[in-house]
Amino acid sequence: MTECAERESVALLAGGAAGVLRGVDLQTAQTVARELEKAQWRGKTSGAFCRQFPQAGGGTLAVLFAFFDSPPPPPSPLLAAAQTAARALHWRTAGGGKVPALAAAELIGPGGMLESDCCRAGLFFQPAGFFYSWHRHAAEEIHFPVCGKAQWLAAGKKPQTIAPMTAAAHHLPRQPHATRTTTEALLTVWAWTGDTAMETYEMCAAPEVAFCDG
Ligand SMILES: [Fe+2]
Repeated sequence: MTECAERESVALLAGGAAGVLRGVDLQTAQTVARELEKAQWRGKTSGAFCRQFPQAGGGTLAVLFAFFDSPPPPPSPLLAAAQTAARALHWRTAGGGKVPALAAAELIGPGGMLESDCCRAGLFFQPAGFFYSWHRHAAEEIHFPVCGKAQWLAAGKKPQTIAPMTAAAHHLPRQPHATRTTTEALLTVWAWTGDTAMETYEMCAAPEVAFCDG
């Protein structure tokens, strides 16, 4: 893919991501949508970022690209844009290298192809039949599922199953959370706002308190 084609595919994907985030009734989603809409093209993901967060492993990428070759329904313009851009993105191990089976690509942010100094956002992939164990970080986070029905767990909330292209999972700063996939792999648009330092990311114990309403 030429750089011009990469730029077009990333712009299309960024526009699609902004579009779904505009429909999420959370301030953090609106902030990221605005950043995506106005962002300037920086070019290939920064070299410093790639050194800090090396590419995901070959096994993870094989599963990821097999998913993009034959994704589950529902088809959507956003999924089509993700498929087109997938091989142009820098897929790194999720959690700053702590969860090798998962992959994340940063469209916008300190390491993204688009510039922003107040958020990180991109795509996140979790294979089928995987429990992404409890973790937390200083950033406020949303995940908008594009493909795959997953169960979202967060301290103080009832477990939530979200169908693709319907709603976002929302995690407050430092709120422990986890994600379980069963029969379907999960692709989301993810976004961080606030303190987006990757250094604050850490795995943590499952919360001991019982889940309450909300
Ligand atoms: Fe998270």
